[in-house]
Amino acid sequence: MNFETIILAAGKGTRMKSKLPKVLHKVGGKPMLQHVIDAAKSAGSEREVVVIGSGAELVKEKFPGAEFALQAEQLGTGHAVSVAKEKFLNSTGALLVLCGDTPLVTGELLKNFFDVHQKSGFAATVLSAEMPDATGYGRIVREGDGSFKKIVEHKDATDAEKKIREINAGIYCFDTQKLFDALTKIKNENAQGEYYLPDALTILKDAGEKVGVFVTNDCTLTLGINSRVQLADAEKILRRRKNFELMENGVTVIDPESTFIDAEVEIGQDTIIYPHTYIEGKTKIGEGCEIGPETRLTDMTIGNEVKIQFSYCHESEICDSVVMGPYVHIRPGSKISGKVKIGNFVEVKNGEGSKLPHLQYIGDCDMGAGCNMGCGTITVNYDGKKKFRTVIGDNVFVGCNSNLVAPVTVESGAYVAAGSTVTENVPENNLAIARSRQTNKTTWKDKRK
Ligand code: UD1
Ligand code: CA
Repeated sequence: MNFETIILAAGKGTRMKSKLPKVLHKVGGKPMLQHVIDAAKSAGSEREVVVIGSGAELVKEKFPGAEFALQAEQLGTGHAVSVAKEKFLNSTGALLVLCGDTPLVTGELLKNFFDVHQKSGFAATVLSAEMPDATGYGRIVREGDGSFKKIVEHKDATDAEKKIREINAGIYCFDTQKLFDALTKIKNENAQGEYYLPDALTILKDAGEKVGVFVTNDCTLTLGINSRVQLADAEKILRRRKNFELMENGVTVIDPESTFIDAEVEIGQDTIIYPHTYIEGKTKIGEGCEIGPETRLTDMTIGNEVKIQFSYCHESEICDSVVMGPYVHIRPGSKISGKVKIGNFVEVKNGEGSKLPHLQYIGDCDMGAGCNMGCGTITVNYDGKKKFRTVIGDNVFVGCNSNLVAPVTVESGAYVAAGSTVTENVPENNLAIARSRQTNKTTWKDKRK
């Protein structure tokens, strides 16, 4: 049997001091809430309901496919769950409760947690961990025999309770109907005047139900993000986890400490990542590539055996065996193919390029295969109002320092003489010379004397 999930994400995130709702802040290049949803799904969750409130419209916009319940006023985590009651009237199984601000949790942990809850026949199970510094978390208070007694929030804890390092991870499994029943009984008589979800555990226990604690020995999985400092801590843990996962799968990461790879990036076997490199978003890299040093790739698709150094490439495609850099900027909508070298100091935008050895600006251009752009070639794509395209056929050779003023077509096999400013189409296999002729003055120097 499987379970349904509710994710609490209505809080304002006051301690973040941000205009953005807390759960939309990114770790590993992905919003916190997305990490939590993905973990639930991979653990086998049948359905996820997200409770939203503060910044609800923004959250909805970012998660168009998700199912939501609205908590108009944020009266506490217990209240947050109760507003979703209507959504679970027909649910007979278990309900996993997660917080949108614990993005480091994995599907594997949640699956083990649910399995234990299920097998033990508990009405409620809470996930706990020993934290080196438990400040801010709710503490697990145990009975003399070690069984669960209650959870006490940091702000309500006595000095003795504050010394407890076993914390409530904010992750629970409940018998769905027993939970909603218990929630009708919770009160808000505490330091924050809130309806605390953890109080539902005590209510169930007092009613004679079995309440269990599942302890994880990896406290990096349960880190809750309340502040920017904790956000940075989470980022570091996630980055380390990603780098290790890639290395386990046959990617060489020369210096994991200075390599920043987002959670969803895919990298093929025997690719080497050099230091000071950022690989972001949904980037996919093939096998046997050499990436970096000092390179930033965002939402890129990169083939096999590609080499890129000291460059920035985004939202574009680089095909097999391209060698690129130093100092190349590939801008969105570009495609580089054909086993070519892309330069020093080259910028390509929204077009296709082949051989661009140095100092080129190629924007809004469709270029065929086997072309060679001389040093300083520029596609003049903008007249101050509109952008225009340059079309270049196959095997075109453009001499150094040429301007191709768009809209213009240089057909296959054509040549453009160095220093030309081409404003008219160049037919197939023609040579275009578009500059004034040189004259040599034989007697000029004598006259000057
Ligand atoms: C909560 C737990 C604490 C636990 C910690 C783990 C309570 C009372 N405390 O504390 O025991 O150790 O998480 O990280 O549950 N939220 C709502 N509506 C609300 C209030 C909160 O949806 O009215 C959401 C928040 O958006 C957040 C989550 O619930 O995603 C947790 O709320 P937060 O205020 O961060 O609780 P903590 O103080 O961290
Ligand atoms: Ca929290």
